[in-house]
Amino acid sequence: MKDSQKVFDIDKVRSDFPILQRKVFNKTLVYLDNAATTQKPTKVIQRLARYYEQENANIHRGVHYLSQISTESFENVREKVRAFLNAEKKHEIIFTRGTTESINLVASSFSDAFLKEGDEVLITEMEHHSNIVPWQMACQKHQAELKYVPITNKGELDEPAFEKMLSKRVKILALTHLSNALGTINPLKKIIKKAKAFNIPVLIDGAQAAAHLKVDVRDLDCDFYCFSGHKVYGPMGVGVLYGKEKILESMPPYQGGGEMIKEVSLKEGTTYNELPFKFEAGTPNVSDVIGLEAALDYINDIGLTSIGNYEDSLLTEATHLLNKIDGLHIIGQAQHKSSVLSFIVDQVHPYDVGTLLDKMGIAVRTGHHCAQPVMEKFGISGTIRASFAFYNSKYEIELLRDALQKALSMLR
Ligand code: ALA
Repeated sequence: MKDSQKVFDIDKVRSDFPILQRKVFNKTLVYLDNAATTQKPTKVIQRLARYYEQENANIHRGVHYLSQISTESFENVREKVRAFLNAEKKHEIIFTRGTTESINLVASSFSDAFLKEGDEVLITEMEHHSNIVPWQMACQKHQAELKYVPITNKGELDEPAFEKMLSKRVKILALTHLSNALGTINPLKKIIKKAKAFNIPVLIDGAQAAAHLKVDVRDLDCDFYCFSGHKVYGPMGVGVLYGKEKILESMPPYQGGGEMIKEVSLKEGTTYNELPFKFEAGTPNVSDVIGLEAALDYINDIGLTSIGNYEDSLLTEATHLLNKIDGLHIIGQAQHKSSVLSFIVDQVHPYDVGTLLDKMGIAVRTGHHCAQPVMEKFGISGTIRASFAFYNSKYEIELLRDALQKALSMLR
């Protein structure tokens, strides 16, 4: 059956996530902090338990049975991730600790190879700190200049300004697919095509996008794509870096240690392993990579198109209901958005609202969401952020609206 034809069964989906049945302060949990991390379906939890009960061994090292089945399971996930991103080759998939480490790997290794004094790196004003700070560090190290593509008052990329910033001096462009603070979906195909006209490699921070939007790295023609396991219903502490083979081949290793070497000699130095192992120093997070496979299987079974369509309906409903609340302002009014609703309310502090919502069983995030430049742009210190997953229901959106009204009546 085609993804778009699948029927979305919210009751069945919710029963797959045990944590959604628990109570918080004697109220059934309403979990709306999915941009921070997603909950895990039973299949992921059981897969992790089975790994430790039946399969645990170090990989790529032992001749024994357990090591061989662990290695096989681990390497099968690489193929699963390749297919998930539609990458061309399995060795273009590198396992990391998360999006942050994936971006740090590129910022460090790519910059060591290609960045020099007078060069420029382009990022945008809507980036998460993880896609700002590694570039600040790299630019400082190589005396390059870091430039920020501005965003509009709606929270969209200022495309005319972006075009003016493109030049041969720009050595890499790094930007988010989906803003964790605003919900904006960037028009990546258009942006990447424009960058490619100047031969600029492009890194995409997909931390927020991978659970909500279908990603096709070949169609996008990006050079790097990063995402985290824990934001796609998988375990924490595992992430992915996709990189085009040619560019990964041209970069030096990020960390030294076991697995990333071919030969180590005290006299003649070290030669490095081939891709992807060159970038996977040390024992990897085997169990969580294997847990990630269960999460991707789970998502694939439901289908990302079906997931995305349902989440869009949640965002539309939430926007409609919350917009009716007196003094509430939505931060981030991009035409193309997904899964994130950030807002402020006149005369109240986001933290106070978040605390009262929590007491009513509703989990949201308040603050700057690791995107302080976004807050600076809007002249605010933080927002209240409700972020949705496909296990959230329309009823929960109504509960959020009701709880918000109650909280505001206490605070104003
Ligand atoms: N980056 C995560 C968030 O937006 C943690 O909450």
